[in-house]
Amino acid sequence: IPVASFDGVVFGATGDLTMRKLLPALYYRFRDRQIPETSRIIAAARSHHPEAEYRGMAEAALRRHVPEADLDADTIAGFLSLVTYVAVDGAGEEGWSDLSRLLGERPDQVRSYYLATSPSLYGKICRNLATHDLITPQSRVVLEKPIGHDLTSARAINDQVGRVFPESQIFRIDHYLGKETVQNLLALRFANTIFERLWNADVIDHVQITVAETVGVEGRGGYYDTSGALRDMLQNHMLQLLCLLAMESPLSLDADAVRDEKLKVLRALKPIPAHEIPARTVRGQYGPGAIGGQAVPGYAEDLGTGARSLTETFVALRLELMMPRWAGVPFYLRTGKRLPQKMSEIVVQFRSSPFSIFPPESFAREPNRLVIRLQPQEGIKLEMMTKEPGPGGMRLRPTGLDISFEETFNQRYPDAYERLLMDVVRGNATLFMRRDEVEAAWAWADGVLQAWADRPEPPRPYPAGTWGPTAAIALIERDGRTWHENLPT
Ligand code: BG6
Repeated sequence: IPVASFDGVVFGATGDLTMRKLLPALYYRFRDRQIPETSRIIAAARSHHPEAEYRGMAEAALRRHVPEADLDADTIAGFLSLVTYVAVDGAGEEGWSDLSRLLGERPDQVRSYYLATSPSLYGKICRNLATHDLITPQSRVVLEKPIGHDLTSARAINDQVGRVFPESQIFRIDHYLGKETVQNLLALRFANTIFERLWNADVIDHVQITVAETVGVEGRGGYYDTSGALRDMLQNHMLQLLCLLAMESPLSLDADAVRDEKLKVLRALKPIPAHEIPARTVRGQYGPGAIGGQAVPGYAEDLGTGARSLTETFVALRLELMMPRWAGVPFYLRTGKRLPQKMSEIVVQFRSSPFSIFPPESFAREPNRLVIRLQPQEGIKLEMMTKEPGPGGMRLRPTGLDISFEETFNQRYPDAYERLLMDVVRGNATLFMRRDEVEAAWAWADGVLQAWADRPEPPRPYPAGTWGPTAAIALIERDGRTWHENLPT
């Protein structure tokens, strides 16, 4: 279904995010005829480029980031004809009259202002938008993470943007919410009756969330080194996953209904007392190692500054939620760069039966687990005990009821940005973060960051291509549990 005709202004249009994610996402939506041809993509950045030159850059980006099978000359030409370039200094004065003139040609069109810039410019760009009278009732502003590096800085950004845009017109992107499999968490929980009844502390022993990446800092060292894994991944993407997994049923899919429930989860995050921080959190940093048989350098070398960095590229922690449904259930979260494989999954482990009629020698006893694979090989697997066939007596083995989404649906999975960009045009904020959510997540993360800062310790080294420091294994094994990837499959 096509969206309304829109003017999509992208600030930071020569940057990496625009080239790698936004243009390819818009291209796919155009190719699938979701973007009306009366729409415009207005690329804005500080440097001056003739329109043809920018279109050339955009085409090169498509050729680099979209598989060849999905590119054809007519569609590329059609798409590029929507693209206009304006040189605008987001923080200064230059170029704003050109942008005003352009937008003034279609005053009633839906407008989205996508700020793919450094967050330090968000306030200034918003002020400029207001000064130049570019904010119509049909306008929306889209903010990328990081929204701040702690609660205070997040509030400052939210205040600056909030002075100009009402909350209903602010779309804070967490691209994990645009991933198909993440949205599927809502379907899994609320469109199926079997799990919801089991979704509580009486039945669930613990939950694990792993987001593992093989990449290092990919030339983003300048940003990453001031951030680290907790701020870069856990405070946002992983807490959002936790919210969808742990929240009570929203009353509807309406944006505020969903966000009200997510907010309750974030507010229920139990602060980790400072004296428990060493036992309940692990910071790591990769050193040289190998991934898939390829030697890779360590973090210090990837940064290329020669300076020793204390930033963590891996974090694992155990948290709890102060909610009746989850009383006493630990949630183990871990994420890191340069781990052995790119893999994101949520594992819900059910309690073991206290009694067994099977003699101990008859099986490797494993509890039931629901494994939600977010990427790659998206799918859901229910791990169960089954009798091995054969006359040899009662021998049991863990097996799985496994749904592979790829095999079931046999269609391309749109990138998260495709869905989210179209939702902005539709004005549907269900998959975007509200101000209070971002701030509640920071309020909790600040507690951990503060405790780390109060007792500074270098991150524990781990060789690239391993599952993080051994302390991360000890973190969960101390509780008599094991990370899922260490289990026999
Ligand atoms: C970004 C982080 O938000 O998410 C990156 O800044 C990370 O460091 C990326 O690599 C991971 O996203 P995805 O979609 O590849 O899992």
